[in-house]
Amino acid sequence: MSHATTSADLLRQNVALDSFNTLRLPARAAWFAAVDNVDGLRAILDDPRIQGLPRLVIGGGSNLVLTGDFPGLVLHVAFHGRTRVQEDAEAFYIRAGGGENWHDFVRWTLEMGWPGLENLSLIPGTVGAAPVQNIGAYGLEMAEYFYSLRAYDLETGKTVGFDKRDCAFGYRDSFFKQAGKGRYLIAAVTFRLPKKWKPVTGYVDVSRELEAQGIAAPTPLQLSDAVIAVRRRKLPDPAEIGNAGSFFKNPVVSAEDHARLAAAHPGLPSYPQADGRMKLAAGWLIEQAGWKGRRLGPVGCYEKQALVLVNHGGATGADVLAASVAVRLDVRARFGVDLEAEPVFVGSA
Ligand code: EPU
Repeated sequence: MSHATTSADLLRQNVALDSFNTLRLPARAAWFAAVDNVDGLRAILDDPRIQGLPRLVIGGGSNLVLTGDFPGLVLHVAFHGRTRVQEDAEAFYIRAGGGENWHDFVRWTLEMGWPGLENLSLIPGTVGAAPVQNIGAYGLEMAEYFYSLRAYDLETGKTVGFDKRDCAFGYRDSFFKQAGKGRYLIAAVTFRLPKKWKPVTGYVDVSRELEAQGIAAPTPLQLSDAVIAVRRRKLPDPAEIGNAGSFFKNPVVSAEDHARLAAAHPGLPSYPQADGRMKLAAGWLIEQAGWKGRRLGPVGCYEKQALVLVNHGGATGADVLAASVAVRLDVRARFGVDLEAEPVFVGSA
């Protein structure tokens, strides 16, 4: 059966986005399409009905706050496939479609014997979303093993390659959250996984977990299992309770501000940065400000990790915004520190 793909097949109107955002916020897209190939994407973007409308690219929706209905076209990335594209003396080069589930991809690499990404196990979301905010956990950021990506430029209609430098990765940050915001659909990402492997076990939660399991020299899969155990203990599962992971970035302050805060607040956790500044633990600040486990309407700070805002049921984007503002104001009043939200806010309201 031959059947050319047309946009009429792919474009849907007035689609609920509740299941496309892990905070489970109610919102609708005026237009919606799941795309799994470039020809289909082109057909959609040429459709006269959506010309001039705003566009939003959604992966797993795990870093997204929908503050209202979206008046334009939502493109759900469904590019699939996982493959070893190359191997040299030093490394394996592994590519995955932007729509692949991140955790499944990580476990697959480990099972195939290509370690490196194990500390990033169980992070919700997709492969294509991972570079956007340079996901990180337990002493590792995705940027470390990122090699290149292929993206579709929604403005020019061209497919573009990005290497690591082009992506301008930072702490939970990249070109795709800054100058390139909203412009690209990440179709595939390639990782460079060095053959020389060394476990990253410096993070205290992980080393304690391994110790408790009596593992002195973990294999990549054992390290992945330990990370999974730690995450399950501390972080809410989006399948059970709506959340978007850490809701705030850990703030970085000057050495002087840090000295002032540390003197006034014994026990303040802090991490020295390469530039002499200090990173603080937002979760600690929020807990000290009295917010751990506390609610404002249907939204609250998770009882086991104050850095995570959770939807206890029935929350809207406005409720999430209100709770996040209340937390920020209290932290600012108590510590003089400004918290910056980690997820991306989108919507008409
Ligand atoms: N803390 C508290 N109370 C809390 C939460 C944390 O006192 O409610 C303290 C902890 O005791 C610890 C410090 O704050 O001393 C740091 O906490 P933790 O190690 O749990 O990590 P985090 O800084 O809260 C970051 C990432 C997480 C990542 C973990 C582990 C950010 C914004 N968050 O959290 O990433 O899993 O480290 O590496 O950088 C995410 O980005 O969505 C995310 C979950």
